[in-house]
Amino acid sequence: MRFHVLTLFPEMVEQAMNTSILGRAIGQGKISLKTTDIRDYAANKHNKVDDTPYGGGAGMVMQAPPVYGAYEAVTEEIGHTPRVIYLTPQGKVFHQKMAEEFAKEEDLVFLCGHYEGIDERVLDEIVTDYVSIGDYVLTGGEMPAMVMMDAIARLVPGVLHNETSAEFESFQDNLLEYPQYSRPEIWHGKRVPEVLLSGHHANIDKWRREQSILRTARWRPDLLEKARLTSKEKEFLKKHQTEIQ
Ligand code: ADE
Repeated sequence: MRFHVLTLFPEMVEQAMNTSILGRAIGQGKISLKTTDIRDYAANKHNKVDDTPYGGGAGMVMQAPPVYGAYEAVTEEIGHTPRVIYLTPQGKVFHQKMAEEFAKEEDLVFLCGHYEGIDERVLDEIVTDYVSIGDYVLTGGEMPAMVMMDAIARLVPGVLHNETSAEFESFQDNLLEYPQYSRPEIWHGKRVPEVLLSGHHANIDKWRREQSILRTARWRPDLLEKARLTSKEKEFLKKHQTEIQ
């Protein structure tokens, strides 16, 4: 997976992406990150990339030519037309299934806007996907791009060392993850659930699945409606309904 980020703040993206698991994955060549500074494509001596909106109104608009120049530099380098994701609160709200779809691509380009937005004409020409990371407004697209790259990168084979860990977790089958415990066995007077110390794997799996169901019912009942529960599990949920409130 090769990530390309078109941004006015390349160092912000590089610093954050070059740490922890993603930094290691980049170091090992499992993913790559290339930032392109949109300002480098400003065709004026002041390196100006924004101007006032036609029709009036507050704020500044990022102009089409430098954004297009940055885009062309990337497409020329990679030699094909990639998916271009524009981060905007007006886009489709990002979710795990979208991350799985994007993870199949060879190259992904993230276009990060600032100010009041980007000239519509260049968006029309180059953007393939308009994506939001939630219903709130941020100051720019860099953090949303990083959120998306994190979610996508961890699905790329070899990025997580424990290959199974991307499979059995939140949002698999629309259930939240079960609670985890580690040493010590008793902490602040609280014991680790007995079943986890039993070594009985079938019982442990059953307990974990039940905990996932209870958690989802308590915290994300909207997800539970989409989960596929067996009739036994539905019965279990009914019996424990009072614990959920
Ligand atoms: N840019 C500003 N706010 C955003 C959001 N919520 N999602 C994606 N991009 C954004």
